[in-house]
Parts: sequence; structure tokens; C-alpha cells
Amino acid sequence: MTSVIIDCDPGHDDALAILLAAKHLDVLGITTVSGNESIDNVTTNALKLVEVGNLTHIPVVRGAEGPLLREAVYAPQVHGKSGMDGAEIPEPTTKLKEGHAVDFIIDTVMSTSDVVLLPMGPLTNIALALRKEPRLRDRVKLMSIMGGSSTNGNITPTAEFNIYVDAEAADIVYQSQIPMLMSGLNLTRQVLAKQEHIDEIRAINNPTTSVVADLLTFYLATSTRHSHDGAAMHDPCAVAAIIDPTLIEFEPMHVAVETAGAHTYGMTVCDDRPGSVKSKEANVEVAVKIDSDRFFKLLIDTLRMY
Ligand code: BDR
Ligand code: CA
Repeated sequence: MTSVIIDCDPGHDDALAILLAAKHLDVLGITTVSGNESIDNVTTNALKLVEVGNLTHIPVVRGAEGPLLREAVYAPQVHGKSGMDGAEIPEPTTKLKEGHAVDFIIDTVMSTSDVVLLPMGPLTNIALALRKEPRLRDRVKLMSIMGGSSTNGNITPTAEFNIYVDAEAADIVYQSQIPMLMSGLNLTRQVLAKQEHIDEIRAINNPTTSVVADLLTFYLATSTRHSHDGAAMHDPCAVAAIIDPTLIEFEPMHVAVETAGAHTYGMTVCDDRPGSVKSKEANVEVAVKIDSDRFFKLLIDTLRMY
């Protein structure tokens, strides 16, 4: 089984990603990062989730309080005030694992072979870990990131939220030369959860799926309010890319993170020009197409396991 660390900011789609990963991958830990909400909120949400999914054997480790250089930006317009509104989940009694997420990532990767990182929030923790322990570059087997876009953005016309919140951190990570899969908005908007999916999940009727159905109901409502045709399964795409790579088509591209643009801060500039005019070697496998029906079958079949 592939060993992974999930670095996240739950987050409705982060929640689904964790539940998906836990039944197929060896999740060595969940590290949290300021993103969809404050570090306090997203860390509480991660603890709630491991209880909802009976996953309390997975350590949860608190990470960065905010971006490397800039003020934190949150997304209450999508995820609500708590960062994971919509379901009544009791306050968690599970304790955090002591220490900082950055040290957990370093220690785990340095002592375990072939760890895959699954970053699905701003890349602050990963960048700090790379700065603190540069040997991670040779130790991490692969990163499957939810972030960026080869088309347009969400938080700005050109930037996707996770990259925009800490573009300086993202720049460090994208330049790290660690093998990288990128599930950006161009991909994740191909998998939209709709009411029929929520009904199917609620009908499974186990304690976990009723919480998931409540969370998805909230997330679908905020998504449709923002003129989307459904709730994009952003973070679960990055997990699906590891569980079943045949679900997704990738194209190698050079991707650079814009950290200076007056109008384009946080943009992932994806060079998909024809081979002959490309100026730089590809550093990222950019996900371009996903089989949405097979993705939802994987997700819903997995939720039946709870
Ligand atoms: C990303 O931003 C967050 O709001 C989601 O959890 C996802 O990781 C999508 O842009
Ligand atoms: Ca996220």
C-alpha cells in the first residue's frame, strides 16, 4: 500500500479526500495548514473528521498559522465560518499529535521509504519543510497536489485559491524538482457533485455518510451560489490520482508560479505550447482529463466501506 501524508485545510473537499484516501492508502499522518480557515478551525475539523470516519489511529499534526510572507486569506464564502459548515459534529476528544507539522513531515519522510505527499491546501508547510530539510527533495517519491489551474482561477481571474494564498511557498515547491502531479481547477471542475450524488451517499446510511451528505449539501449550495453547476471535487482528485492513475490523463508541462504580477499573483503559468517552442523542461505532470463517472463510483463505493 502506498504510504502518504495528507497536508490539508479541511474544508469540505479535504474531508472527502481524507475519507477516500484512508480506505486505499496507508495514511501516515494528516498535517494541517492555514487555508480555508484559521489553523485552529481547520485543525479542529481534521480531528472531527478522524472521529467521524473512525480513523483516530491516524495522527493529526498542527501546522503553519499563515503564509510565509503575506496575511492569511480564508474562504468562508465556500466553506462557511468554521471551514467545514453544514454538519453537526461533536467537539473532538481526540488529541493532536505533539509537535509541528513541518517536523512531522521531515521526520516521517526521512525515516520511511517512498512516501507520497498529498498537499491539498496552501503549500506553506511543504515549503517550510523543504527549506528546513533540503534532502526531502531526494526522499519524497511523488507529490500529488490539488492546486493551480492551466485555465482560469477561482479566487482571482487567474489564480486558484491554494496557490494564491501562499504563492511564495508554492514557488518553492514547484521549483523543488520533486516529481509532481497537479490536479488544478481545469481538472477538478470536470467532477461536479450534484444532488443525485448526495442522495446516493445519504442512502448508504452509515454514520459517516450521513455527515458527508450534510457537508456536501452545504458545499453544493455555496458552489451553486457561485454559479457552478455542482460541487467540484477538488481535493479528492489529487487522492484519486494516486489510488487509480488510469482515471486521469496527464500532460508534462513546465509550470511556474507567478509571485510578482500586479494582476496575476498566484497564477500557475502552464507551458502547454507545442514541444518545439517550449523553453524549459517539464517539471509537472498536469492533469487534463478525468473520467467523472468512474471517479464517483470510486468515491461512493469507498464511502460504503465506512
Ligand atoms: C481548493 O481551495 C480550497 O477551498 C479547497 O479545499 C481546495 O483545496 C480549491 O481551489
Ligand atoms: Ca483544501
